[in-house]
Amino acid sequence: MYRNHTCGELRLSDVNKEVILAGWVQKVRKLGGGITFIDLRDRYGITQLAFYKDQNAELYEDANKYGREWVLQVTGKVQERSSKNKNIPTGDVEIVPSNIRVLNSSELPPFTIEDETDGGDDIRMKYRYLDLRRNPVRKNLELRHKIAFETRSYLDKLNFLEVETPVLIGSTPEGARDFVVPSRMNPGEFYALPQSPQTLKQLLMVSGFDRYFQIVKCFRDEDLRADRQPEFTQIDCEMSFVNQEDILQIFEGLTKYLFKQVKGLDIPDFPRMPYADAMKYYGSDKPDTRFGMKLVELKDLTTGREFVVFDNSEYVGAICAKGCASYTRKQLDELTNFVKRPQIGAKGLVYVRYNEDGTLKSSVDKFYTEDDLKKWADRCGAEKGDLILIISGETEKSQKQLCELRLEMGERLGLRDKNVFNCLWVTDFPLLEKDEELGRYFAKHHPFTSPKEEDIPLLDSDPGAVRANAYDLVINGVEIGGGSVRIFNSDLQKKMFSVLGFTEEKAQAQFGFLMNAFKYGAPPHAGIAFGLDRLVSIFAGLDSIRDCIAFPKNNSGRDVMLDAPSVIDESQLEELNLKVEIKEK
Ligand code: AMO
Repeated sequence: MYRNHTCGELRLSDVNKEVILAGWVQKVRKLGGGITFIDLRDRYGITQLAFYKDQNAELYEDANKYGREWVLQVTGKVQERSSKNKNIPTGDVEIVPSNIRVLNSSELPPFTIEDETDGGDDIRMKYRYLDLRRNPVRKNLELRHKIAFETRSYLDKLNFLEVETPVLIGSTPEGARDFVVPSRMNPGEFYALPQSPQTLKQLLMVSGFDRYFQIVKCFRDEDLRADRQPEFTQIDCEMSFVNQEDILQIFEGLTKYLFKQVKGLDIPDFPRMPYADAMKYYGSDKPDTRFGMKLVELKDLTTGREFVVFDNSEYVGAICAKGCASYTRKQLDELTNFVKRPQIGAKGLVYVRYNEDGTLKSSVDKFYTEDDLKKWADRCGAEKGDLILIISGETEKSQKQLCELRLEMGERLGLRDKNVFNCLWVTDFPLLEKDEELGRYFAKHHPFTSPKEEDIPLLDSDPGAVRANAYDLVINGVEIGGGSVRIFNSDLQKKMFSVLGFTEEKAQAQFGFLMNAFKYGAPPHAGIAFGLDRLVSIFAGLDSIRDCIAFPKNNSGRDVMLDAPSVIDESQLEELNLKVEIKEK
């Protein structure tokens, strides 16, 4: 037997027990005076081993030779510590070893394996297996397991069936680029890795599996951000004979269940917000509703005073930052520079200070009277001591810029508390999105999303105005999940492909299998997919989803530990019928 207890479980009630532990040396502390302590660590905790020269000189000498991360098996007696450590659950006891077996030695690790490590990002990613020994990282994976486990339990109780779908498939349209895999047996042809199991889960509905789910890897070749990985995991679901309301109920239920089971929190019913309102009041389809500071339109109150910037703008909008009237020139400059950064792209920032003495002072005093400013302040709900920040320009762009500014102000004012969870359904997304450069429409969600019945006639006359039966789950400003009611009628699906500019042949070539399947009694169906990585990150309060993935990719899509992607042998290339010309760097 390698061990009969873990390093996290011994307490005062175990004193005098003979135990066997196994684990890694976290730290050797030579106190001098013939005493050495070793902290032995495993997944469950840390237990102190105490070596006293006067009790066992031989073990004491050996103990001083062990290094960090050596793997030891310890047999010994539990005893009460003379100086207790209140910071760890095992801090009342220690083991006085009677025997130590070195199971393995270790090279000195490239960074300290402690909660606060000295290792930078790159080195920790290169030695991710060592990073995973650290508590904070391990805890994230434990949380991930718990969320996945509870998800399965909730869905199983509701009769959902987990079905695996293939990974080597054809293209699935989720709006990103595909990762492709060459087929040796079919020269010149490629599989695509699924961006999601979208079409396959719809086929399962045709097959009669009326409640499907899968915790499944998805692959998208897109630019990486803190909340994006090229391979990520979805909690993917689909149901038959349901409408949008059924889906929202069941998956609001799942989210609440997870908060309760995993964090012990009772989350109130989720508010719902149409997409149009989300854009109008927050400048985003994923508003962070932990705080107010809504966007306020001021265009009508600002025109006609010969301030050409506002007069020539389609949109003039403001946010009101509570208690910020005292911001210094420097702070205001910082905010102006913030919105002028290329990523945000505002031309400038106008401010109005509503001073404590009731006066109003702005950066556009040349054009506006104090009465004008008071009207703006009233519309913004501003009070004495508040600061109004104004951006103008093209409507959608300005709203997005104000959204960024709002989030920045929320951050500065400490309104984005990671321990507060605000869940929200955003509904009524537009069905289509126009690419102005290409002059054509794209599916905002994917081409299988059903338009709202009452908007179907607009498909010909005003496609951009058609709303979809599509919904997103947003938590604290993060898009956690998205889904839609699907088209299940092949004629409407054909129509949709034609609006999207697919020729009949192209639609047939790419999605013929689905349209054919729909000829054989497709039930009405709808579904949703949650991003598991994002859900775990929100639960854990992480800044990046990388931290809850065992072996993530870096920002260039590389696995620095495995050194992937990498070049492959000429012979392998030949076998795969891949003629490549390696370009000179
Ligand atoms: P969608 O494309 O909205 O919908 O994806 C669903 C959820 O998956 C997560 N997600 C990601 N997480 C990490 N890295 C990525 N690169 C990434 N891309 C997406 C998000 C997102 O909300 N088939 C549809 C679902 C449906 O209609 O049922 C789909 O994939 O949390």
